[in-house]
Amino acid sequence: MCGIIGYTGEDQALPVLLKGLRALEYRGYDSAGIALCGGNGITTVKAKGRIDLLEEKLKISPPEPSFCGIGHTRWATHGAPSDLNAHPHSTENLSLVHNGIIENYAEVEAMLKGFGYTFVSETDTEAAAKLVDHFYKITCDPVKSVFSATGFLRGSFAFGVIFRDVPGKIYAVRRDSPLIVARCNHGSLIASDIPAILPYTKKYFRLPEDTVAVIDEKSTEFFGRDGKKLSLPEETVDWSVSEAQKSGYPHFMLKEICEEPEALRKTVGARLVDSLPDFKDIIDRIPERIHIVACGTAMHAGLIGKTLIEMFARVPTEVCIASEFRYRDPILHGNELVLLLSQSGETADTLAALRHAKAAGVPTLAIVNVIGSSVAREADRVLYTLAGPEIAVASTKAYSVQCACLALMAIDLALKNGRMTEKEARGLTETLLTSVPEAVGKVIGMSEKIKVLANEFTDTEHLFYIGRGIDCDLCAEGSLKLKEISYIHSEAYAAGELKHGTISLVTDRVPVVAVMTDRSLAGKTLSGVREVKSRGAHLLVLTTDGVKESLGAPIPCDKTITVPEIGCEDCPYLARLLTLFPAVTALQLFAYHAAADRGLDVDKPRNLAKSVTVE
Ligand code: F6R
Repeated sequence: MCGIIGYTGEDQALPVLLKGLRALEYRGYDSAGIALCGGNGITTVKAKGRIDLLEEKLKISPPEPSFCGIGHTRWATHGAPSDLNAHPHSTENLSLVHNGIIENYAEVEAMLKGFGYTFVSETDTEAAAKLVDHFYKITCDPVKSVFSATGFLRGSFAFGVIFRDVPGKIYAVRRDSPLIVARCNHGSLIASDIPAILPYTKKYFRLPEDTVAVIDEKSTEFFGRDGKKLSLPEETVDWSVSEAQKSGYPHFMLKEICEEPEALRKTVGARLVDSLPDFKDIIDRIPERIHIVACGTAMHAGLIGKTLIEMFARVPTEVCIASEFRYRDPILHGNELVLLLSQSGETADTLAALRHAKAAGVPTLAIVNVIGSSVAREADRVLYTLAGPEIAVASTKAYSVQCACLALMAIDLALKNGRMTEKEARGLTETLLTSVPEAVGKVIGMSEKIKVLANEFTDTEHLFYIGRGIDCDLCAEGSLKLKEISYIHSEAYAAGELKHGTISLVTDRVPVVAVMTDRSLAGKTLSGVREVKSRGAHLLVLTTDGVKESLGAPIPCDKTITVPEIGCEDCPYLARLLTLFPAVTALQLFAYHAAADRGLDVDKPRNLAKSVTVE
């Protein structure tokens, strides 16, 4: 979503702000702006579109040198992307950048109009900027004015503010939207996310809610609402600058797919004790029911989790879209478990669902990739996936490691409730740790072949993914990946459901991707394959040699992608379900190459944001 950077120090602020904005580009945005504090007051420059356009504007009329400023990338919520709606929003006294949504902005605007304020943009942020301005006029104190304003505001926000009368200082505050503060050799920074500070320092302070940070060239100070100074622990980023860079890959998405084998090994390895999954610190007893709650790709990992947990351990498991969860009045009991999945740990819908579950008195467990994120901090228990930073908007490696954690949990539950022998559990665990990453690596090695196949779909407008059982879960993710980055419209369908209506859309111009990795269901999916083939569909089948052999006759299709089938002597049937891992990597690569071949901005698809911090 939106990005915030602020710098004050010995160096010129503008290059630091632009570099910071570029580092935050991956979050998704549609306009950008900066405000600099100098001898002549505050200079604000904003532009709709990419940061390049902002830079062009700055070249045409360069602002006077400044050592303190704030910058923002905006992802439009209130008001269309435009120069006027872009941040920072300025008044005669200050300039402010904002991430989040002010829910009561209309009320605030109406009140401020009564004090003579006028409004020029369509944003909720302008109300916040003018509210701080209003209190500043009364108090002449930046910290007090920020606190007074936030006391009034409802919603989520992270603010960075500079005041004309206090050059060299930046003020920051947040509620339900992340913000960090950092010291570096030549000054201090605020940022909404770690990549923006990484070129300068790996140490940072996580700003607590409703705490004001005041930073200048030499210091970072924190104040509570009572005006008392707070001392915060400094944290250290556990990833390097190179992890946040493309390192020679054309796109972050491809780099992150290629990182999957390592991410899987790390995530699985970290959860093992004596070669078995260890969830002692996380699950005390077998829940009567598990509710997996998440959004988008994470929710699709939840579908896989449901399949594996129910197949391995027979523990009833529901999957719910987080944005729907609390509005459906879910039936929750204290002996159940609500399991939140989130790469970022900042997704507003997932956070709201977590709070709903906690209020209902159900134990909560979060599987999260970003350490210390809001979901991680608020859940009763947390299990970290070790995927490293995921920068591309389209989630890939995070999905794979979420599935790996869920597979481990399924093994653990199955062992605990006697559905699996220790020998079987050991065999499956070893398979997850070694054969799965190896097979994923082999699929990555097939990238060029998948590219050739994907390029055949460059002119496609609509496409179906079909599969049964776990293959149907994979179709959901394959389809989302394709549509979000290539803009090819696609639908995922249970192979047996197509004939109940949707098959009327299948023609020789609507190709079909059939996912057939589960031997036990492939024969059934074959009927669906024949049905679409006989309606003229161009058909690509994602399968394994094992499935081909088990069918005993060739699959009637135009092209195939054959991925390695996962095997394990101790538990062959359940191990084969883990073919999901190489299969999803193939689907991710297919989507990636289809989008790249269309010449699209793969890492930053239109209208999308990396972490969706608004409801
Ligand atoms: C799609 C994608 C999104 C996210 C969703 C949840 O590729 O990345 O669908 O999966 O917005 O995000 P997290 O996992 O951060 O809660």
